[in-house]
Amino acid sequence: MGIPIITLASGQKIPQVGFGIGVLGKKAYDPAMTEKIKLALKNGWRHFDAAEAYGTDPELADALAAFPDIPRSELYITSKVHTSKGIQNKDIESSLRKILAETKLDYVDLFLIHNPFFPENSLTLEEAWRQMEAVKEKGLTKEIGISNFRPVDIEKVWKIAKVKPVVNQIELHPYLLAAEQDTVDLCKKYNIQIASYSPLVPIGRHGKGPVNALSEELAKKYGVTSGQILLRWQIQHGFVAITSTADDARQKAQSDLQGFELSAEDVKKIDEAGATYYHRFFGWGAFKTEYHSVL
Ligand SMILES: NC(=O)c1ccc[n+]([C@@H]2O[C@H](COP(=O)([O-])OP(=O)(O)OC[C@H]3O[C@@H](n4cnc5c(N)ncnc54)[C@H](OP(=O)(O)O)[C@@H]3O)[C@@H](O)[C@H]2O)c1
Repeated sequence: MGIPIITLASGQKIPQVGFGIGVLGKKAYDPAMTEKIKLALKNGWRHFDAAEAYGTDPELADALAAFPDIPRSELYITSKVHTSKGIQNKDIESSLRKILAETKLDYVDLFLIHNPFFPENSLTLEEAWRQMEAVKEKGLTKEIGISNFRPVDIEKVWKIAKVKPVVNQIELHPYLLAAEQDTVDLCKKYNIQIASYSPLVPIGRHGKGPVNALSEELAKKYGVTSGQILLRWQIQHGFVAITSTADDARQKAQSDLQGFELSAEDVKKIDEAGATYYHRFFGWGAFKTEYHSVL
């Protein structure tokens, strides 16, 4: 298995590339998701990114049940409290207990506030963080963190946190590195690990920009795939990457990331090509208005 393991500020170890089980607008149990996760487990993936909002916890539980020989200590499970459930109901512990019941786990390794855009009359960010600290104290999660937090949100939590967030999971790929530089820099200053979701946007969800052709060119140069190039770019920037694929060959290649290294020059080439183009795939919430253009 070629995924590096890195150490968070808390001392916890985390595989640097994780497998996302997020879907949009899911209504019923999805056997294809169960199969996708089972294939990922078979292909050696051990870090899974779940969330209350995805509704895919039963599929995760069923997939894990098919591999009883994988010890819990080998798995790394992230989940997130949903802003319109745990946050709106002002009860993060109940949300996490429901997640644990549905995934049939005793604890998650990392629990995140899914985003800072809370509904009216719900918790404040500071109140939410206190509740996050309480669920960690109870052992329901090993570590706590945040997701989609901008510098202004990070500062609010940082000011009052007794237990600091260890991860900020944000959309991050070459087309957002410039737009997210302030968030990346602040997280670096506070030793909060950046986890990048949608790392393959330039070759997958939005193939129109300049990094698509460049990834292909570099894939030929290094004898790997363009997916491996973009994930290696994340690793060499020191980010955790949260990716996903149902495809067997891609699952195999995209978890085989330690056998080659991009030159510093090629990392810079991707940075520079990415900086000429802006695309945010998950342009929802405050992101829509705040980051309409950085060029
Ligand atoms: N915190 C948040 O707010 C948030 C928001 C969004 C996502 N996430 C997390 O991040 C995870 C990953 O997000 P994502 O799906 O956008 O990540 P991604 O890895 O950038 O994109 C995955 C998509 O790209 C395709 N793909 C995979 N490898 C490819 C390749 N080599 N070439 C072309 N296309 C390829 C996949 O299709 P195939 O299956 O056909 O390969 C899939 O549709 C989610 O599942 C979720 O866990 C978190």
